[in-house]
Amino acid sequence: MYDWLNALPKAELHLHLEGSLEPELLFALAERNKIALPWNDVEALRSAYAFNNLQEFLDLYYAGADVLRTEQDFYDLTWAYLLKCKAQNVIHTEPFFDPQTHTDRGIPFEVVLRGIKQALVDGEKQLGISHGLILSFLRHLSEEEAFKTFEQAMPFRDAFIAVGLDSSEMGHPPRKFQRVFDKARSEGLLTVAHAGEEGPPEYIWEALDLLKIKRIDHGVRAIEDERLMQRIIDEQIPLTVCPLSNTKLCVFDDMRQHNILQMLERGVKVTVNSDDPAYFGGYVTENFAALHESLGMTKEQAQRLAQNSLDARLV
Ligand code: HPA
Ligand code: ZN
Repeated sequence: MYDWLNALPKAELHLHLEGSLEPELLFALAERNKIALPWNDVEALRSAYAFNNLQEFLDLYYAGADVLRTEQDFYDLTWAYLLKCKAQNVIHTEPFFDPQTHTDRGIPFEVVLRGIKQALVDGEKQLGISHGLILSFLRHLSEEEAFKTFEQAMPFRDAFIAVGLDSSEMGHPPRKFQRVFDKARSEGLLTVAHAGEEGPPEYIWEALDLLKIKRIDHGVRAIEDERLMQRIIDEQIPLTVCPLSNTKLCVFDDMRQHNILQMLERGVKVTVNSDDPAYFGGYVTENFAALHESLGMTKEQAQRLAQNSLDARLV
């Protein structure tokens, strides 16, 4: 089954490039940049990957991103992810990057963007993987800071297809970013947002009504609100679901409790994605395989999920 799932053509629509930083590359970049790490070796770092919630993960994810300093580092990070895509027959990807994680450490916006974008362009040419890049704002920071980031991004407007919203969800509702999302749409950018991962269904309503999002990232808590379920079914609003992430961050206690197939069978346009594969134990194929092993996902369901990912592309 793994090989069959691996061979399915698919798109990945929810992937944080910083979350694809494997411990081996993290150590190699630390050495290249002469950065001392608090972990003795790759194994010690990997064993720190045990989380009770989103915030515990984010603390380590931002700490790990500190080894990314140069344009070449961002290129190498992105290229390593694209090689994984190639190996798993991901033919199109719409990754997120978090510029504020880097500009707040003094790394210029263009250093981050140039490294990532060059790798994506090379990936199209050399690996045949198409892409659309999504600039994600950190929601634990202010809207004013998001505006500053947006201004830094505008000279590179054509490098992006959309803006997104990630980081700590609870206490940072989508409405906090309504004006900066309005501005992004006025520049012709599309919008997506993480909503309903840890946050309540109200956050999904706000993301739809105030941020005018084209896709919901995670969205698994929509199932608690029947009126919302009806809307996302009627309007066929895609959900970018990340099963291994949801179990690693205790959104569901166990993969057997995951609601993705229930949603699929109700007609929700759900897709399978890896979120932060270096931290959560696998890339897209491993996420599909987990659904087969724990929920008995059939080949026919896998085909529908993969087709949904191709249909839910923004570009
Ligand atoms: N949720 C919110 N923020 C994130 C995530 C996530 O799953 N991954 C990286 N940043
Ligand atoms: Zn995410």
